[in-house]
Amino acid sequence: MSLIDRIAALETEVEKASARTADEVEQFRVSMLGRNGAVTELFDAFKQVAAEEKRILGQRLNQLKQAAHARVDALRSTMEQDGVTEGAALDLSAPALTEPTGSLHPITLVRQRIVEVFSRIGFTVSQGPEVEDDLHNFGALNFPPDHPARDMQDTFFVSGGIGPDGMALRTHTSSVQVRVMEGSTPPIRTISPGRVYRNEAISARAHCMFHQVEGLYVDKDVSFADLKGTLDHFAKSMFGPDVRIRLRPSYFPFTEPSAEVDMSCSICGGSGCNICKGSGWVEIMGCGMVDPAVLTNCDIDPTVYSGFAFGMGVERIAQLIYRVPDLRMYWENDMRFLEQFTAAPFRK
Ligand code: PHE
Repeated sequence: MSLIDRIAALETEVEKASARTADEVEQFRVSMLGRNGAVTELFDAFKQVAAEEKRILGQRLNQLKQAAHARVDALRSTMEQDGVTEGAALDLSAPALTEPTGSLHPITLVRQRIVEVFSRIGFTVSQGPEVEDDLHNFGALNFPPDHPARDMQDTFFVSGGIGPDGMALRTHTSSVQVRVMEGSTPPIRTISPGRVYRNEAISARAHCMFHQVEGLYVDKDVSFADLKGTLDHFAKSMFGPDVRIRLRPSYFPFTEPSAEVDMSCSICGGSGCNICKGSGWVEIMGCGMVDPAVLTNCDIDPTVYSGFAFGMGVERIAQLIYRVPDLRMYWENDMRFLEQFTAAPFRK
């Protein structure tokens, strides 16, 4: 190969040179410009060249040498930019850096599951305002004017205070049920999930804001047995086929008769643990037959229709599923807490 051809070949090689590591850059430099490097060898060969060719070939050769130096510098600087330090190979087999993905809040997961269970048996979902008037939160629900639940101790008033003109943060989503009954004729089968507010001192076991899902079923001949069957279905769908429920007499102004619903403890199976305080039962909600006075207040004839209602706290249900020891953890937005709830541990 003539000298000019060898120069041309090296020019192409220099132009195309690439390197993945600092070591490879150094290898390239040595192979071109080292003591036995290809460019260095051409300078030796140049000594034999005839005098008349020297000028032109000398120029080409010097250009090649400069190009090789420039290439080495360029390769080194890309190494520095990419943060590849001397000797550290770029590991093409390393796992890719993944983008963190978000997840749903545990209370959202539990609320969605509750809604799903009731949707499957024909309940629609209704929503209403969080700032509510006295009529919808209390009056139409049969709360006497001097009922303690209207007291400033429990209710956050927005304006007007206690009385028919008062506006307050709703203390339960029964207010939504009143709105649904006012606007429709039975059959009504609906649940109302949402935030509610009560003036409680914040502690591990209580918060001034929590979530409820309340349910309402009004039609001809709705009975207490329907209520019990519906709640039994809910408990088994949510916690498994082995759980049982029991109803204890209770009191709510808007239901008659009223009951508290207990479920056999889903954690110890009823044998007694610290969650059920050794009793084998945990309270999960309140319920009852809609008081005829409430139906009348909502323009539904209680001689034709009857209904049942129930209401549960989502945090309470979540507690039995996730066993979070302190309610406040739900609202602190600590990523180490929230990141643990990527999949809902529910039965399908
Ligand atoms: N509204 C009641 C509460 O907030 C729950 C409830 C709803 C009880 C419907 C009976 C019937 O505690």
